[in-house]
Amino acid sequence: MTLGLSTAGESHGPALVAILTGLPAGLVLDRAAIDADLRRRQQGYGRSPRQQIETDEVEVLAGLRHGRTLGTPLALVVRNRDHKNWTWGMNPWPPEGEATGKGTKPVTLPRPGHADLAGVLKYGHADVRDALERASARHTAVHVAAGAVAKALLAQLGISVEGSVADEERLRRRVDEARAERDTVGGVVEVRARGVVPGLGTYAVKEERLDARLAAALMGIQAVKGVEVGDGFALAELKGSEAHDEIRPDRRRDTNRAGGIEAGVSNGEEIVVRAAMKPLPTLMKPLASVDLETGEPAQALVERSDVAAVEALAVVAEAAVAWELARAAKEKFGGDAVDDLVGGWRAYVERIGWSDTSR
Ligand SMILES: Cc1cc2nc3c(=O)[nH]c(=O)nc-3n(C[C@H](O)[C@H](O)[C@H](O)COP(=O)(O)O)c2cc1C
Repeated sequence: MTLGLSTAGESHGPALVAILTGLPAGLVLDRAAIDADLRRRQQGYGRSPRQQIETDEVEVLAGLRHGRTLGTPLALVVRNRDHKNWTWGMNPWPPEGEATGKGTKPVTLPRPGHADLAGVLKYGHADVRDALERASARHTAVHVAAGAVAKALLAQLGISVEGSVADEERLRRRVDEARAERDTVGGVVEVRARGVVPGLGTYAVKEERLDARLAAALMGIQAVKGVEVGDGFALAELKGSEAHDEIRPDRRRDTNRAGGIEAGVSNGEEIVVRAAMKPLPTLMKPLASVDLETGEPAQALVERSDVAAVEALAVVAEAAVAWELARAAKEKFGGDAVDDLVGGWRAYVERIGWSDTSR
């Protein structure tokens, strides 16, 4: 059984939920490790004060007993603490009583670069909030929780995954500049996975290529507009003799321009992917838009927002990559119990004679 992940939750609704299926039984989860990743997602230079309101924590509703998975669907919940200010505005049911708190007035000023205009047109909403609440990246919190579970599974196979900002110092300077100008910025994040054996993914079916899956997982994150594997776009400028990673007798490489994937299959080197994030679309100095109620020119919605969320993206991207690698590993090595999964992996490592002497 492959791994499955479904999530639900609006930005200011009561909670975010995730259901993870296909996890082997007997996987030990550490609540503190999941919460630590949730905290990492909330931190970072340029984030808004909402992050202080939230202090995310994971709750488990099903699939876990005494810290070990049962092999049944794992149900995770991350509450939106800010919901207390939106109990009328984001009430799942027709609210009773006087309209109080946030979200009581319909939003009619779509922001360029956000889901607002396409969302109301597509779904027939009168209030832009009905579109933006789900399009918001708030629900990446529960994806990060799922990523932490995936990392626990990958650790059983000697794999670690780490996301970082490509150029942290420069990013901080750009955030300071943008904050002073009441503007926003994006940036580039990198995710590296160490200890991946050759053979995850396949060239046999294009959608199952590991590079295709990682690219889709990263593109699936809000505001990601470009993805590269290994040296990616820079490879287009090189000659073949400069671009490929020569194979040593021990089957390892001295270079890793391919980013650990050839023909959609992991090749045993570190997996390296990068994602480019556009500047956040909610601006304190709004761009031109239209008032959907009157049809008149107007300025776009101004709402509390981050100046940048690049460091948060590094954590979200790490979770997305971890989830895809765990899914690919589960498909390759199988197992209803963790010991079966590890046993399948050991037998394979032995068959190909792979000893991971990571450079
Ligand atoms: C971690 C994270 C935090 C974000 N925070 C904000 C934010 O505070 N304000 C904002 O306008 N967009 C934010 N975004 C980006 C929007 O969610 C995104 O641009 C929007 O949903 C439109 O989708 P698209 O950019 O993929 O086209 C964030 C994205 C991520 C990944």
